[in-house]
Amino acid sequence: MASLDQFQRDIERLRSAALEALARAENADALEAARVQFLGDRSGQLRGVQQALGALPKEEKPAAGRAFNAVKAELTDAHAARARELARAGGDDDPTLDLTMPARMPWLGAKHPVTLVIEEIVEIFRELGFTVALGPLVETDWYNFSALNFPPDHPAMDAHDTLYLKNGGLLRTHTSPVQIRTLQQYPPPIRILAPGDVARRDFFDASHAPVFSQIEGLCVDEGISFVDLKAMLTNFARRYFGAARTRFRPSYFPFTEPSAEMDVECQLCKGTGCAVCKGTGWTEILGSGMVHPTVLDSAGLDSERYTGWAFGMGPGRIALQRYDIPDIRILYDSDVRFLEQIAR
Ligand code: PHE
Repeated sequence: MASLDQFQRDIERLRSAALEALARAENADALEAARVQFLGDRSGQLRGVQQALGALPKEEKPAAGRAFNAVKAELTDAHAARARELARAGGDDDPTLDLTMPARMPWLGAKHPVTLVIEEIVEIFRELGFTVALGPLVETDWYNFSALNFPPDHPAMDAHDTLYLKNGGLLRTHTSPVQIRTLQQYPPPIRILAPGDVARRDFFDASHAPVFSQIEGLCVDEGISFVDLKAMLTNFARRYFGAARTRFRPSYFPFTEPSAEMDVECQLCKGTGCAVCKGTGWTEILGSGMVHPTVLDSAGLDSERYTGWAFGMGPGRIALQRYDIPDIRILYDSDVRFLEQIAR
């Protein structure tokens, strides 16, 4: 009959043999072999001793079990400690690992120049009571053209040729449809800015992109006149460009009457004429005008009672002036080497 004495001698022998084997293991493979030999689940020696435990008389089992558990824990710890030692030693020997090398700086995200321009414009108009309104990128013909007083097949639409979708929708060609959506949704007084992307069938050249950002402004209330338009836009230009001179030129848009384009003294040559302003000394920054009564009617407003003004700006063009960038493609190519010089 097996005895506790015998069991304790066996397990002690196993213990010292295993500790010696673990300590002697010179690399991960040798350590793994020692682990399988002594601690292996199926045929490890510890497993054999555990079976012998089952054959002991009942009253000797508790003491034998305690001895077994203590040895098993000691060997498991010894194995883990040796594994750590080997890993540490291996790290030091690894010629590809240089712990003194400077760390690589993490990449930080930043705001795109066009976003910076939009945020600055929004901030300046916010002080005048303007809030931000957004509209969908896919519009209907009615919101993009008809409600804005484009007669069917009018040549003014040629400049706005766009992608027409199968369901009758189209990619909006300007942010002006947000005027209609806002007027339908809220009663005057209205003061909103609507930034967003628009699409046109334009070539991708130094001053055009087929998809670009616009920012729309709309102010509708009782008694709004062209004086308000000039005052607000001139105030904006002064705030944004400093003491630069501005000028208004008559223009045409179906949805404004009268219409005007606003130029700002070229920021690059200070009005003396350069390649960027094509020798004129001025850069056009926005189209504007008094909201056409037909537009107010389309949106369901009483055009006898309300008047308003609106503008549309290209923040991309403004970014070129602001950051002295010679080609609009730089803004939309997403080449970080350029963008990170401006990004904040
Ligand atoms: N929507 C016009 C354009 O894209 C700009 C504009 C907006 C003009 C509002 C007048 C008033 O060219």
